[in-house]
Amino acid sequence: MKAVVFGLQWGDEGKGKITTYLSREYDIVVRYSGGSNAGHTVEYGDVKIIHHLIPSLHLNSSVKGYIGPGVVIDVEVFMKELEELRSIDPVVDEKIRVSSLSHIVLPLHKEIDGKLEDMKGEARVGTTRRGIGPAYADKANRLGIRAGDFRNLERLIEKLELISRISEKLYGTTPMNSRELIQKYEVISRYVLDPIDMKRDIENSRVLFEGTQGVLLDLDVGTYPYVTSGHCNTTGVWVGIGFPVKLDKYIGVFKAYTTRVGEGPFPTEVMGSEAEELRNRGKEFGATTGRPRRCGWLDLPLLRYAVEVSGCTEMIMTKADVLNGISEVKVCVGYRYNGRILDVPPNLDVLDDVKPMYETLKGWKDLDDPNFHEFVEYVSKMVGVTMSHVSTGPRVDDIEIWSGDDD
Ligand code: IMP
Repeated sequence: MKAVVFGLQWGDEGKGKITTYLSREYDIVVRYSGGSNAGHTVEYGDVKIIHHLIPSLHLNSSVKGYIGPGVVIDVEVFMKELEELRSIDPVVDEKIRVSSLSHIVLPLHKEIDGKLEDMKGEARVGTTRRGIGPAYADKANRLGIRAGDFRNLERLIEKLELISRISEKLYGTTPMNSRELIQKYEVISRYVLDPIDMKRDIENSRVLFEGTQGVLLDLDVGTYPYVTSGHCNTTGVWVGIGFPVKLDKYIGVFKAYTTRVGEGPFPTEVMGSEAEELRNRGKEFGATTGRPRRCGWLDLPLLRYAVEVSGCTEMIMTKADVLNGISEVKVCVGYRYNGRILDVPPNLDVLDDVKPMYETLKGWKDLDDPNFHEFVEYVSKMVGVTMSHVSTGPRVDDIEIWSGDDD
C-alpha cells in the first residue's frame, strides 16, 4: 500500500496531524518536497510538536521517516528538531534517514532569500526567508551541496568554496568559512541513505508520502509567482524521491475555510473583524514564522482545481470545529469572470479578476449537529470526491471516519 497525503489549499491544512494519525498503518513516512519552511503541528495529549523537516511519523511507534531528494535540508533545524523529538521518542534517530541526494540549505541561501524579498519591494512573495527558493535555484544551477557530499570532505571544501565565491560575486553574500560549516553540518552524514537503498526500502514497504504546503503553492500549478519553489502537488512524489511509484490513494486535506500566508491572490479573503474572528478561532498564525495568516471562506472553485490537478481520490476536512457556534457559514460556489461563470478556474492568473459567488449555509453548534453533516455532504458533492475522514480537534486522535449520507 502506498498513499500520499497533501494539501488542497495554500498549506496549513493540518496535514501533519493527519499524516501522524494515518502513519500507524504504514512502515515509512516519506517527505518529498519543501524544507524548513513547512511547519506541521502535531499534538499528542498535552504535548505539541512542530515538524519542520522530520517526517510526521507517529512517535514511539515502529514507523520510520525518510527524507527524499526533493527536500532541501537546513541541518541546524533538522538537528534541533531531532533533539526535541528525542525527548519523547528516545530511539527516533534510528528511524530517520536522509537521501544522499537531498540538497543542503546554506546560510548564504537565507541571506539571498532576504535580499531578493527586500529588492522586490511591493512585488515580494512573502517567503519564510528560510532560504528555500535560493537552495532550489542552486540545485538547478548545479552549484548545490548534497547530504552525500559530507562523506568526502576534501571535495566538499572545493564545492563550498565555489558556491561561496559565486554567491558573493552575484549577490554580495558573506563569504563562507567552509571548515566551520563542515564542523556544524557534518553530523548529517550519520543519517544518509543511498538512492538504491531508499528505493528498495520504499518498494518493499507500506509507504505514506507526506506533502508540504499545498497544491496552490506548487511551483508549476500554483498561484505563480506567489508560490514556494518545490513541487508540493502530488506530482512531486516522483520528482521528490527520484523514481516512479504506483500510488493507491491520493488523500487531499483541506480546511473548512481558507487561509494563506504571504502575498498573492485570495478571492474569498475577508478583512477586518470577520478576519480577526476566523484568525482567533483557528489560531491562524504561522507555525514557522508566527505571521498572522490571511483568512477567508471555503473556495470550491479552487478546491475543484486542486482536486483536478492532483488526482485526489479522497478528501479529509480539518478544523471544522473552529466554526462551531457560528450561525451562518459562507461557501464560494463559483466565480464571475468577464461575463461568464466559472466552476473551476482554467488557470490561476484569472484569480486577480474574479468575483466570488457565495452560498450561505446554516452553521452548527458542534460536529454532531445535523447542519454539520449537511455541510460535509454538500462540499463532498460539490467537489465530486468522497470524504474519508473529518478531523474533530487538534490532537492526533481527534478524527472520525466519515460514514457518508446514511445517518
Ligand atoms: P518560501 O517557501 O519560504 O519560499 O515561501 C513562498 C510562499 O510559500 C510564501 O507565501 C510562504 O508564506 C508560503 N509558504 C511556505 N511554506 C509554507 C507552509 O508550510 N504553509 C503555508 N505557507 C507556506
